[in-house]
Amino acid sequence: MANNEELFKNLIAHAKEYGFIFPSSEIYDGLAGVYDYGQNGVELKNNIRQYWWKAMVQHHENIVGIDAAIFMHPTVWKASGHVDAFNDPLIDNKDSKKRYRADVLVEDHIAKIEAKIAKEVEKAAKRFGDAFNEEQFRTTNPRVLEYTSQIDDIKQKFYGALERNDLEAIRQLIIDLGIVCPVSGTRNWTEVRQFNLMFSTAMGSVSEEASTVYLRPETAQGIFVNYLNVQKTGRMKIPFGIAQTGKAFRNEIVARQFIFRMREFEQMEMQYFVRPGTEMEWFNYWKQERMKWHLSLGIPAEKYRWHDHEKLAHYANAASDIEFEFPFGFKELEGIHSRTDFDLSNHQKYSGKKIQYFDPELNDSYTPYVVETSIGLDRMFLAVLSYAYHEEKLEDGSERVVLRIPPVLAPYKAAVLPLVAKDGLPEKAREVMDTLKFEFMCQYEEKDSIGRRYRRQDAIGTPYAITIDHQTLEDNTVTIRERDTMQQDRVNIEQLPKIIRKRLQDNK
Ligand code: GAP
Repeated sequence: MANNEELFKNLIAHAKEYGFIFPSSEIYDGLAGVYDYGQNGVELKNNIRQYWWKAMVQHHENIVGIDAAIFMHPTVWKASGHVDAFNDPLIDNKDSKKRYRADVLVEDHIAKIEAKIAKEVEKAAKRFGDAFNEEQFRTTNPRVLEYTSQIDDIKQKFYGALERNDLEAIRQLIIDLGIVCPVSGTRNWTEVRQFNLMFSTAMGSVSEEASTVYLRPETAQGIFVNYLNVQKTGRMKIPFGIAQTGKAFRNEIVARQFIFRMREFEQMEMQYFVRPGTEMEWFNYWKQERMKWHLSLGIPAEKYRWHDHEKLAHYANAASDIEFEFPFGFKELEGIHSRTDFDLSNHQKYSGKKIQYFDPELNDSYTPYVVETSIGLDRMFLAVLSYAYHEEKLEDGSERVVLRIPPVLAPYKAAVLPLVAKDGLPEKAREVMDTLKFEFMCQYEEKDSIGRRYRRQDAIGTPYAITIDHQTLEDNTVTIRERDTMQQDRVNIEQLPKIIRKRLQDNK
């Protein structure tokens, strides 16, 4: 059995081999942190986006969508705080010349101590069996208490230093904790520097007149600057939301873990405008709603967990992440943030335009507060793919790789396969294809043995394979094979659309 690291490597290779994800400009050896989606990848990505859009916009009468431009007026990023505060502290190792995020080095160190605690708990659970009380163990065991106090101490020093922007204290902490470079193994660190993550470029053809513009690092600002437009033209009443999906760009210091941390990626964000003072109620509401969305895909609840932020972004007064168990551990998948009136108030200040809402119930005007849900489309893609990827040994001793993608998201819903490419079966199969293809994304295949074709469809996650055989010509029935169980049922061709529709609705 492959371990998680091997599985992840195999998954990346599989994603390329089956046309899901290619490294960008691969013939030139790629571009770090940038990826292209292939013929199957684009379908899966579109389906995830659509599943999100339907849940957020179509299913909520008070949420509408927009599609704002990537380029925005440069002052937007001054007002949003990104010019001054969208930084990562970075540090270089002088021996390996490798660059790291100082906060990631410290957080990885904390994770190692947490792993030691988890090991102690696991050992004790085994020793005490049914009588084990984890809560009691964690609060009384001297070794666990020592580890917990170490973590508290590191966090206090680290977040304090970040808050004060005391870069020397961060460097000292890294040295005091004995953190070494994973490549050179030395503690020969440079000073810590702040590094702004926004990409900039010049707009205008004459260099003297060109102005610096940024590639947006989040889609949210396109929503804030359009708040008045949408509220007025849509006659929206608070609470209401504006949703958007689109590209965002960040010059990540270390882009890594495949499409987990990219320099060009896509976000799906929704800003919910609420009456000041009600934001925590809506924050909790959206936390629940978003978790329900994830679970509705049939991915088990154990794959998800909550992480409440201790260090808040410059705009937030509360923030929780939905973390997913990727092959490299639990990591952030989605953020739910209470952004107060930070953005709208600052845009009001910098633009000089009044950005307020007249609340007829209160007979008063105010700047709305905002609760945001923000999920990376590529990260959700990776979550789905890593959940779906299975290397299986079958009863007859053969092996298969199957992508158990939730059917509603699968690139192709059905494969239409004539058993053999003769005897009038291809013609009949084409008829079946024609009855299905306007409603469902279908793939027609007649090359190779039926077994090999099933494997190929398993490998791209097609939930249903429809086989047209000689009996079909006699009684108009076909077999429908289910990807996960490999079970086959014989059904009438006329029933096919209804059956597929029903199974997709049940997401089975
Ligand atoms: N508007 C709020 C915002 O942008 P964030 O936590 O910085 O918040 C939201 O980003 C989500 O965007 C993350 O939870 C993650 O899914 C995705 N994301 C952020 N940076 C990313 C990157 N470099 N590559 C891929 N996805 C990223």
